[in-house]
Order: sequence, then C-alpha cells, then structure tokens
Amino acid sequence: MRSLRTGLSLTGLVTAAALLLTAPAAHAADTPLRDLASAKGKVIGTAVTGSKLTGTYGDIAGAQFSSLTPGNAMKWGTVEPTQGSFNWTEADQIVAFAKAHNQQVRGHTLVWHNQNPSWLTNGTWTSAQLGTLLQNHITTEVTRYKGDIAAWDVVNEPFNEDGTYRSTLWYNGLGSGYIANALTWAHAADPAAKLYINDYNVEGVNAKSTALYDLVRSLKAAGVPIDGVGLQAHLILGQVPATLQQNIQRFADLGVDVAITELDVRMQLPATDASLAQQKADFKSVTAACAAVTRCVNVTVWGFTDSDSWVPGTFPGYGAATPYDENYAPKPAYYGISEALGGTTTTPPPSTGACSATYSVVNQWNSGFTGQVTIACSGASLSSWKATWTYGAGQQITQAWNAGCTQSGAAVTCTNASYNGTVPDGGSVTFGFNASWSGSNPVPTVTLG
Ligand code: G3I
Repeated sequence: MRSLRTGLSLTGLVTAAALLLTAPAAHAADTPLRDLASAKGKVIGTAVTGSKLTGTYGDIAGAQFSSLTPGNAMKWGTVEPTQGSFNWTEADQIVAFAKAHNQQVRGHTLVWHNQNPSWLTNGTWTSAQLGTLLQNHITTEVTRYKGDIAAWDVVNEPFNEDGTYRSTLWYNGLGSGYIANALTWAHAADPAAKLYINDYNVEGVNAKSTALYDLVRSLKAAGVPIDGVGLQAHLILGQVPATLQQNIQRFADLGVDVAITELDVRMQLPATDASLAQQKADFKSVTAACAAVTRCVNVTVWGFTDSDSWVPGTFPGYGAATPYDENYAPKPAYYGISEALGGTTTTPPPSTGACSATYSVVNQWNSGFTGQVTIACSGASLSSWKATWTYGAGQQITQAWNAGCTQSGAAVTCTNASYNGTVPDGGSVTFGFNASWSGSNPVPTVTLG
C-alpha cells in the first residue's frame, strides 16, 4: 500500500499484467466520439473558446471531437473591432489547435446581424458602400484561412419564423441578393471550402425551414455556390422535432450537405436524473437522425461542457445544455451521442442515494490515461469522503490530485484532501489521477464510504 498523493513508482505492473490475463472487462472502455463518428463516415464537432484550449478542456476538445467551430472568434465584431484594424488572435489559436489535433474547422460566421463591430452598425452607408464593406470582409477573412476551413457558415440566421426575410443591416441595405453575393465572394476566396447557410428553428419541417429550402433550391438553380445547410438545433428538453430526419432528407435530396451546427438541449435548473435521462434521449435522437442520412455530414455541439455554454446567460433559470457537466464529467447526454454513433458504453446509473460518485476517463493514450471521479450530493451533504473501486484489467494509479489515493493490488482507495472533504447539498467535488493501462481499460464501479 503506497500513498499516491505525490506520485509513485510503477512497481506492481507484473501484478497488473497477471490480472489482465484473467479478469474479464465489466464494460468496454469508452471509445472517443470522434472515432465512433469516423467509423460512420461522420464528423463530430464542438464550439470552442480559444483561450480555454488547455488542461482538461483542451484534452477533451482534442480527444473527443473531429471538428471545431469558433464560438465567437471569427465573428466580424471580434476580428475587426476597429475599421481596418484586425485581431485574429483567437481564431488563429483555434485553427492551430485543430491542425495539431487533426481536426476540421467550421468557420462561423461571415454575414450576421449580431456581433458586428459598432463602427459598422453605427455607420451610415449607401447600398454600394455596404456591399463593398461586406465583400471586403468576406474576401479578407476567407482568404486568411484559405485551406484551413472545411466549411463556412457564410450567412447566419437570414429568416424570420414565418419564413420571410429578417430585417437586418444586410437585407435592408442590399435586398435578398446579399445572400447570393456573399456565397459567390466566399467561393472566389476559397473554392475548396463548403459554403453553408445556417439558421435556428429550421430543424423540423415548418415555414422557416421551407423558406430555407426554397432559397437553397433557387440558389442552386441560379448556379450560386451553395454546398450545405446548417441546422443549429438549440433545442428545449423533450422537444426534438418529429420531422427532423425527414427535413434533413429533403435538403439532402436537393443536392446539398446538412450539418447539425449548434446542438444543445436546455433544461430548467436544477437538473434531475429524469431531465438528464430525457436529455440523453434528445441528444441520441438528433445524432441518430443525422447518422441515418448520408449527406448529413457533421453533428456539432454548441460547447461541450456546461461551464462553456451560452444558455444560462440568455435563459435565466435554464442550463445544463451540453454533454459534459461543469466539472468535465460526461453526462448521460454524452452517452446518448455515443450510442447513436454505435458506441457500446453504458451510462453510469442515476444516483439513487443522496451522494454518488461518477468515474470517467477524460484522456487516454497508448499506455496511460487520466481519470477523474466526481462526488455529487443532492438532498444530503458530506464532511469527509472515501471512494473505493477495484480495477478489472490491471490498471495502476501512478499519481493523484485533489485526493490521497492508495492502491493495493487491484483495490483503490481515495480519501479527500484537507481542503475538499465537504460536499454541500447540491454541490460536487472532483479529484483526478493518472494511471497506466494495457489491453483494455474498463470503467470500474465506485463505492462511496
Ligand atoms: O467578451 C466579452 C467580455 O469581455 C465581457 O466581459 C462579457 C460581459 O458580458 O461579454 C463578453 O462577450 C460575450 C461573448 O459571448 C463572449 O463570451 C457577449 O456578452 C455575449 O453576448 C456573447 O454571446 C454569444 C452569442 O452568440 C451572441 O449572440 C455566445 O457566446 C455564442 O455562443 C452565441 O452563439 C450563437 C451563434 O453564433 C449563432 N447561433 C446562436 C448562438 C447562441 O446565441
């Protein structure tokens, strides 16, 4: 028995190897979402914030996803806050991270009515000036990232709910022709990038999605370069449209690709086992609808962790909209995506007691992995805690943090550090560890004592 609070040597690997030969895996190790998606010919993405792409956030973004969308970094207001003065820092950072992790980038977004620089929105422009500004913006940004962007959300949110054009700077100043022009200018700057129109509340068959359908059909008939439609999919718990797959299919039949570009499923807080289970079903059915249509190429979540979601700031009282919780533990929704992509992982059972422990592998490489355990309480609290489990395939902990861990044979015992023994009602603590593995890395069941 050794203390692992400050790390330890790797003795015990012989025991680990022996166990490997005899102990059957209780569960298959989680296969990263990007590998599952790839096996189905799909891309799985997430919106990201560039400054957060280190540590656990970076590990998950790199390991689980095959596409990144800058959540804000490529919007006009970010890249040209002062006319003629550009800031590409965060966008460059995301593109570099994506290259290093063999990921696609979805560029977001070139023409929108939100998050434009104030010099643009406060200016007085003739129609000709506005057209020139837009053409220069598109040409500058698309050219800068030529070859780096798999797909651009060229035009974002052009429609009202009833299918009429939204009254915006662009529509009011340039008429509906701004859409065809924007696509044409983007194509001239990077002929290889797939060009999309992206909108929300167009997931099911309705007036708005039919307006988008009619627009795409007329653009194609006119020879305008349009490659795809983005269905944002900012959904409300339990409200996945029944016609989602049918709608995806009708766009595919028009001859364009489809992407789910901004998937999240918001719920009233606090989350419960029941709402998280419904959310799992919702993520699963959206992912499955895309998986079922050949031309649906990408499912992107709008932030993968609840700590990086736009929802609580926009819908007070609502949140928990993403597949990972605020401590980076995968939620049932994560397993919904995984299962829809053919994964065989099992969802950790909902907590029946007042406090529960959830074990997850947050990063894994050829011989080692980083794991974490989150202890969460609801209707109860703890003033100290002990988490125990038995490894089924010879895994060996080498280092732990935010807990003191000892391992004796396959049996692991972790107790709270001096500063995190208290888990309040409604709160949680997370500790982490590095460990070695070989052959398989099944997830053990953690018991709280
Ligand atoms: O960067 C400033 C920061 O300096 C300041 O202290 C802080 C205080 O409010 O604001 C920060 O800017 C915020 C920005 O996100 C970056 O975090 C803005 O206030 C906030 O309005 C902005 O929200 C973004 C929202 O678009 C704006 O409409 C969200 O992050 C972004 O996720 C969201 O994304 C959109 C898609 O682009 C299009 N579809 C809908 C989707 C959700 O609204």
